[in-house]
Amino acid sequence: MTSAFWVLEGMDGCGKTTQAKLLVAALQAEGRHPLHLREPGSTELGEGLRTMLLDKKRQDWDPRSEALLFFAARNQLLHEAIGPALDSGRDVVCERFTPSTLAYQGQTPALSAWVLELDRLVVAPAQRPNCIFILDLAAAESFARVGGETGVEEHDSFESRGLAFQQRVRDGYLAYSHAFPHNTEVIPVAGKSMATIAEDIFRQTQLRRS
Ligand code: TYD
Repeated sequence: MTSAFWVLEGMDGCGKTTQAKLLVAALQAEGRHPLHLREPGSTELGEGLRTMLLDKKRQDWDPRSEALLFFAARNQLLHEAIGPALDSGRDVVCERFTPSTLAYQGQTPALSAWVLELDRLVVAPAQRPNCIFILDLAAAESFARVGGETGVEEHDSFESRGLAFQQRVRDGYLAYSHAFPHNTEVIPVAGKSMATIAEDIFRQTQLRRS
């Protein structure tokens, strides 16, 4: 079976995890054996870095330092999981990838160029996603879904950065989709059922595979 690499992206609260699970189930129903991963995480190194990066009590770090840590997690995931799975003919479904680093750490032209350079160095041509699904939601809606203003106990270090930050995250995703239209699909999610969104995504995987 030919393998394919599918990425689910979007702001906090957009429903990535639910959609990743639904896509995995749909691919399984087709007789495939997809590997479900998340970033940062899914390896020992990635989960360790996740704990450090998402700790809401940590200091603010330079965005380049954050980006290097996310890319360390990504490199390990490519080496341990994504590369071997694709080589063995499996599909990969991954929650978040380089567009997250652009949206969260690459919020100026200089930073975004630097993040794209890291992506070029770390991600081999054969390991590039077939499609990145950006689950698009207004920043205010995303912010409300994760509990609004700062101070919410469960907020991680990124969710607690406020509405203006989340607006820049959304702008970053939309800029990415304009820069790389061939391998992105922007899926508006507001007001749509999880099942409808899942159908849209699955249909695209079928179109893009053929
Ligand atoms: P996520 O697993 O989506 O968090 P949750 O399970 O709480 O929805 O993502 C973890 C956080 O890491 C998220 O706020 C976005 C951030 N992040 C970056 O800032 N840069 C990156 O490159 C990645 C992969 C994630």
